Amino acid sequence: MMKNKNRKIGLRPSALDKIIGAPLTALEDIKQLMKFSIRTKISISYLIIFTFIFSVTTGFLVAGYIYSVKTQLYEKNFDVVEQVLSLVSEEGLVPDVKDHLSRIYIDQNIGVLIQDRNGEESYANSPLYPIVNYDSLKGSGFFKDIFPLLDLASYELMPLEFDLDTDGKATFFFEISGEINLGRRMCAILGICYFVGLMVMFLFGGIKTKQVISPINMISQTADNINSQNLDARIDVGKAKYELKDLAITINEMIDRIQDGYKKQQRFVSDVSHELRTPISVIDGYANMLDRWGKKDPEILQESIDALKNEAANMGNLVERLLFLARYDRDVLKYEIKSCNISEIIEEVAKETQMIDSDHKVNWLIEPNLYVLGDCDRIKQVARIFADNAVKYTPKGKHIDFGCFVKEGYAAVEVKDSGIGIEKKDLESIFERFYRADESRNKQTGGYGLGLSIAKIIVLQHKGKIKVKTKINRGSIFSAYFPLQKNKTP
Ligand SMILES: Nc1ncnc2c1ncn2[C@@H]1O[C@H](COP(=O)(O)OP(=O)(O)OP(=O)(O)O)[C@@H](O)[C@H]1O
Ligand SMILES: [Mg+2]
Repeated sequence: MMKNKNRKIGLRPSALDKIIGAPLTALEDIKQLMKFSIRTKISISYLIIFTFIFSVTTGFLVAGYIYSVKTQLYEKNFDVVEQVLSLVSEEGLVPDVKDHLSRIYIDQNIGVLIQDRNGEESYANSPLYPIVNYDSLKGSGFFKDIFPLLDLASYELMPLEFDLDTDGKATFFFEISGEINLGRRMCAILGICYFVGLMVMFLFGGIKTKQVISPINMISQTADNINSQNLDARIDVGKAKYELKDLAITINEMIDRIQDGYKKQQRFVSDVSHELRTPISVIDGYANMLDRWGKKDPEILQESIDALKNEAANMGNLVERLLFLARYDRDVLKYEIKSCNISEIIEEVAKETQMIDSDHKVNWLIEPNLYVLGDCDRIKQVARIFADNAVKYTPKGKHIDFGCFVKEGYAAVEVKDSGIGIEKKDLESIFERFYRADESRNKQTGGYGLGLSIAKIIVLQHKGKIKVKTKINRGSIFSAYFPLQKNKTP
């Protein structure tokens, strides 16, 4: 029973496919067929525009030609027309007048149709079909004039209508084979012009379109070639024109930025791995030493424990900083914003430095009660980063000065040392992650090259500024400017 049911369900998709699959595929096929390339679409648009302009121009030309033929016919046959109009108006369709009209048809080949005010009682001097049935040939509205003309053109006749004084109407039909022939020749020439124009448009438009849109193919090919392993490909900007040139430049710049970001990420991962290798090998070394000799030797035991604690603290510190940067990159850094007495914060850091570091003379000059709105712990972290560097890069016995004062409308925090200074070429890079200027000079100080990059993030996220002034072997001044809290004045 169960088997049967399953089989039925199993059959369903293919059965459905058979019923609706075929029309669907056909529809897809049609859609696929209708997918013209952008080049074909542009060419078709050119042709449509060309045909439209050509038709309008031709329409005006034909209308103008018909108008001029009518005027000429009237001027040429003015006497006949006037004579007939006055005769019929004055005497009516008496036998003499009818006789006169039939002679006009025989002698001059001019058909005349007379109708009374209701169009009922009519007379035609010719048995010719279009003359007798002129009224029924007429359409209505806009095409009223055109349709009888089209029909009459095959009889090579041109009608001219005149009102009679007796409220009736007289229509004259003139023979216009010469004009029709000229018109036909004109149409033939116009037709040839149209087809030549069409071909030129098609070929020239096609070539031009190809030239203009060829960068699009290049862009898609380049985009196809780009992946994480190959970010070097760029679009050849020289071949693009107009807005496509701007597009190509924008895309190239975008790839530059992606490549830059990708390289930074790769460098970051390799730097982190590199930084973690050292403490791991130190821990490994001490663990081995403990294993071999340390169990019974209390001195080695203590040294190893101290070293392991130290390395653990170092690694903890590194991981803490990396977490900060990772949170910043993911845009999930949280700040506890409140009113901070920055003067007190800097004084605390200065006193703290004086206490820990007996190798330098630490001084401070602090304007009291300056307030900023921000995360007090993070602001303190910036001051500590500056202080830590000043201590690390200043020879023993020299002085380190802390300052906190109002400058340019900001609360400025300044840490001035009399240390080794920084070379000009390094100044741009010291705020980058893992950058350490002159590794050989820095070797003995230790550090990961992360402090200043973190300080910069904190200051900028507080809408502040960070500055450095330095002179080789004379010292450096690192300053952070935080916007003063407006309603809190000292
Ligand atoms: N006061 C200073 N005097 C001289 N050089 C400095 C000073 N402050 C920073 N530098 C240079 O800038 C580099 C980057 O400083 P940063 O604080 O970012 O890293 P670090 O001190 O090397 O390591 P970390 O702060 O991560 O422990 C330092 O390696 C050092 O070369
Ligand atoms: Mg540092």
